[in-house]
Formats: sequence, C-alpha cells, structure tokens
Amino acid sequence: MQVIKIIRDINSSLGVKLPRIQAEEARLRLIKAGILLKAKKIIKNRDFVYLPISDSASLVNILEDLEYQIEYQVFPDELLKPSIIDSLKLEFPDEPWEEISVKFDQIGEIGLLRLDSELTSKAFRLKVGTKILSAYPKINSVLNKLDITEGIKRTFPIEFLAGEEKYESWHKEYGVLIKVDLKNAYFNPRLAEEHRRLSLEVTNDDRILDLFTGVGPFSLHCAKEHHCEVIAVDINPYAIKNLNASIKRNKLKGSIIPIIGDAGKVFRENRYFDRIIINLPNHSINYLAYASKLVKNGGIITFYQFVEKNIQPPQSLVSIIDEKLKNVCTYDILTNRVGREVSPSRIQVNVDLRIYNE
Ligand SMILES: C[S@@+](CC[C@H](N)C(=O)[O-])C[C@H]1O[C@@H](n2cnc3c(N)ncnc32)[C@H](O)[C@@H]1O
Repeated sequence: MQVIKIIRDINSSLGVKLPRIQAEEARLRLIKAGILLKAKKIIKNRDFVYLPISDSASLVNILEDLEYQIEYQVFPDELLKPSIIDSLKLEFPDEPWEEISVKFDQIGEIGLLRLDSELTSKAFRLKVGTKILSAYPKINSVLNKLDITEGIKRTFPIEFLAGEEKYESWHKEYGVLIKVDLKNAYFNPRLAEEHRRLSLEVTNDDRILDLFTGVGPFSLHCAKEHHCEVIAVDINPYAIKNLNASIKRNKLKGSIIPIIGDAGKVFRENRYFDRIIINLPNHSINYLAYASKLVKNGGIITFYQFVEKNIQPPQSLVSIIDEKLKNVCTYDILTNRVGREVSPSRIQVNVDLRIYNE
C-alpha cells in the first residue's frame, strides 16, 4: 500500500521512495512520463532511493508493478559538479562557503549561474565561469543571474562571466527546440517537467490558450505532441519573436498562433477553449474569472500561483479560488499541488480546475 507522509519540513517536496534495486527502472519511467524533477538531487541511502517528482497523480499507472511509497523529502537543488566545488574551495578558501549555494542551469549552450554578487568576489565568480567552460563541453558562454526575476517581462539582470558573450541559444526540452534570449525574454529550464506533464494531458483537436506564453514552451510542447490548435499570448515582443523562430524550427503536429498583446484584454467571453494555461505566478489568480469565460463548459484551466510557505500551501489557495469564482461559474479542483520552491519563503502551487460555465 502506498502512504503519503505528512509534510514535516516546509522545504520538503514530493518524492517517491523505492528499494535501490528498482530505482533505476523507476527513474527511467518517470523521465519518460515527464515528472522526474531534474532540478533536484536524487537522495540515496543503504536500502532506498528517493526520486523527486512534480506530480503523483499518474504514479499508479507508471510504477504499478514496483514497490513504491509517496513521501515528502527535502531534496537539495542540483548544483555544480562536486569536483568543481571541491577545487574552488581549495582555491578560494576565504569565500563564505557556508552561505554560498552555487546553483547552476544549462540552457542550450549557455551556463547560467546564480551566485550572489554581494556575498562573493568578482574574481571568484570569473573563476567559476572558466571552470564551467572547461568542465561542460557543450557550454560556450557562462552568465550569472544577479537578481530575482522582475518587471512586466519577468527578466533578470545578468553578469557575463566567461566564454562568448551571448544571451541567445537553442535549448532542448524532451525533443522540443526552444529559442531563448535570456536578456530580453523570460525562460526557466526548471519548468521542463511541467511543460511536458501538461502537454501529455492535451489531446488531438484541443483548442488551447496559453496566456503569458513567454518564449512559448507550453505551446511548443503541446503542438509538438498533438494535432491541437494553440493561441499563445505575451506582451513582450521579444518573447514572441523567439517563439516564432521556434515554430519554424520544430516539426509541429499542431498549429500555434502567436499574439503580442495584453493577455487580459485579447479576448472577450467566447467559451472557445478546451484548456487555458495561466502562468504569471505572481498574479495568475487574478485572471481566473476572465479565463473562466473563455473556456468551454467542462474545459480546464491550469494555473500556477506563488504562495507564502507559512500559510499552508496548497490548501491556502482553495478559499481564494472560491472568492474569485463564486459569482462567475462552478468548478472542480482536479489537482492542487505544491510545485517548485521559488525562494526560502515562497512556493509555487500548480492547480487544474474543471470549469462549468453554462
Ligand atoms: C512567468 S513568464 C511565462 C513563462 C512561460 N509560460 C514559460 O513557461 O516559460 C510570464 C510572461 O508573462 C508576460 N506578461 C506579463 N504581463 C503580461 C500581460 N499583461 N499580458 C501578456 N503577457 C504578459 C511576460 O512578458 C512573461 O513572458
């Protein structure tokens, strides 16, 4: 029998525990299903392996013949190769190592670090950059994210560290090629599993509205996988320019119509869409009533919302959803799950709602 353990630590996230002998088979199946979290480290002890996952709803089908348990664990973020960290510690013993977390993502040919410029010296950051260049052969440019994502475009200030100074690249997620421009348009490779998960729920002929599409990863995943019709909206012309490049580059089964515009104003009530994606996590909840007039009766709204960790996510969202929709439509909450950790105090909650608006 599978048991869901109570969350003890607010930093914990969803995982699946298996005997070591079954772990590799489970890992491969979870990757294929798009729910293994690549941004978190797998935890192992003598007898068991804990795999970090984004969603538990489909585990029964994926791991049905294995002995698994769903458990919440504190999975550390995936960091730089340990060999790089060790040699940096030898070379820079005076850096405040207890406080530094060297977070790192590979985005196409770009290595993107998150090294606090107030905590670390420039010489140290430049050295980390050159070490990454030699340790990761596919990377030819190393950048450092200096601050949090901000502003209407959701971009962030960047420091160039090593290699070729470039901000654009082609990134691959589950076979989908995504043109990114880190200086001018939002992109986060840690959402890959969520892009994939959602695309696997879509079916042929679905009409999808991807509000706040950014460079379009949700739209591209859906149209790569299915003969669906997607309308992708973003206010940032650079984001849509990159999406257009990706539409040309991928062999898509479905179609994507990109629109530059204000997501809250592009459509009037039409009940046209089978699924609407709302991914502006600071404010998604404020677009629920609007989206519920654009989705078909029985259609789905998937939205992502940041909430404070100390107010019991994801339950804390339930009353807010009710407040937003009570005079507009009825609905069922299909899933309401804790997603990625955004900061020490905030977490993203991922929600699917079925809307009844007739
Ligand atoms: C979190 S990012 C989107 C991420 C994207 N869905 C993904 O998975 O990578 C939010 C996006 O909303 C866009 N945006 C912000 N305000 C907007 C508005 N009023 N209308 C349309 N797009 C908006 C930003 O330009 C940004 O690209």
